[in-house]
Amino acid sequence: MSNEIISWIEISKKALINNINIMRSRVKPGVKIMAVVKANAYGHGLIETATIAAVNGVDFFGVNCLDEALRLRSAKIKTPVLVLGYTPLARLKDAVSHDISLTVYNAESINRLQETAAKYKKNARVHIKVETGLNRQGVEAQNLRDFLLRVKSKKNIEVEGISTHYANIEDTTEHTYAKKQVENFKEACELFNREEIAFKYRHTACTAAAILFDEVHFEMIRLGIGLYGLWPSKETKISAYERKINEFNLMPVMKWKSIIAQVKTVEANSCIGYGCSDFVTQNSKIAIIPTGYYDGYDRKLSNSGYVIIKGRRAPVLGRICMNMFIVDVTNIEGVKCEDEVLLLGSDGEDSVSAETLASKIGTINYEVVTRINETLPRIVTE
Ligand SMILES: Cc1ncc(COP(=O)(O)O)c(C=O)c1O
Repeated sequence: MSNEIISWIEISKKALINNINIMRSRVKPGVKIMAVVKANAYGHGLIETATIAAVNGVDFFGVNCLDEALRLRSAKIKTPVLVLGYTPLARLKDAVSHDISLTVYNAESINRLQETAAKYKKNARVHIKVETGLNRQGVEAQNLRDFLLRVKSKKNIEVEGISTHYANIEDTTEHTYAKKQVENFKEACELFNREEIAFKYRHTACTAAAILFDEVHFEMIRLGIGLYGLWPSKETKISAYERKINEFNLMPVMKWKSIIAQVKTVEANSCIGYGCSDFVTQNSKIAIIPTGYYDGYDRKLSNSGYVIIKGRRAPVLGRICMNMFIVDVTNIEGVKCEDEVLLLGSDGEDSVSAETLASKIGTINYEVVTRINETLPRIVTE
């Protein structure tokens, strides 16, 4: 590793390809895979991740916003891209001119898209999002027919897909609510058929749905967390186990590393860090890690996190600061300045998982990885 950086993310190409292949083996041949690379590819690095995925079996990219889509295009990634979030009316022209597909559910977007597409003499490609129970983005069932008639009347608009998103798959092992959403989705698709609106892809499945329910794979699945080698939740793991879906060896793609900036000894009963929130009861050796909450190392890990140095756990002492924190290395032999420190990931012997960090700070693994500051270098290994 470069000896010029103090905190960085390593992305395992091997793990990413493994996860794509595992998810690919879950679906029938012909089902497309959309890699959800929004939020800087869940913190893994948008371009670094997409560059690997684009040539290893991914058919589509899902991003949150147009700027993420345009970054993919600037990196010469030609794979189809769908914006999953909202695109402001004033930016629709950028989507049309760069052949970016858009998620739509508002009459305003449809009207402006038609004008824009006509002006550019192109077709605007849209995926109509239908509301089936999450009550987030989507056309409500009672408005769907009018919406479809509006779309049908706009000749420069091509319906590429129909989508919805599940409210309650990851949080439970009881999937009645999700099944009701599937029924609602199928009813919506029938309306498309009745109104003779052609589409290529129906897509509803996030990682948990794709793992658990074959019947929701339709023509495309949308994979986020699983691609990065993380399980959506404990409940999803239990549900998979109950369904005897045991072959899933997802490999975490990310490691977060830093180095030691200083090693020093402190006397017994010394306070450590801001607020004197910690102290040592014996003569101790401490190490300063130049990574902090600005980088995404959550302040709630104060006095409770741990890192791995030379294969051994070093507990966090005191508060996480903006740009650094302190660990206890009393029991680790030979620790010195610029030794490598593992903040997240496995070193083969021991690990700090995203789930461990999530449970310590009261959140989910998704948030742990996505909140790692975009400015840290992402380095592809293998
Ligand atoms: C619309 C949509 N589809 C798919 C996904 C991917 O979900 P997961 O990361 O659980 O696979 C997300 C993630 O938030 C999403 O918002």
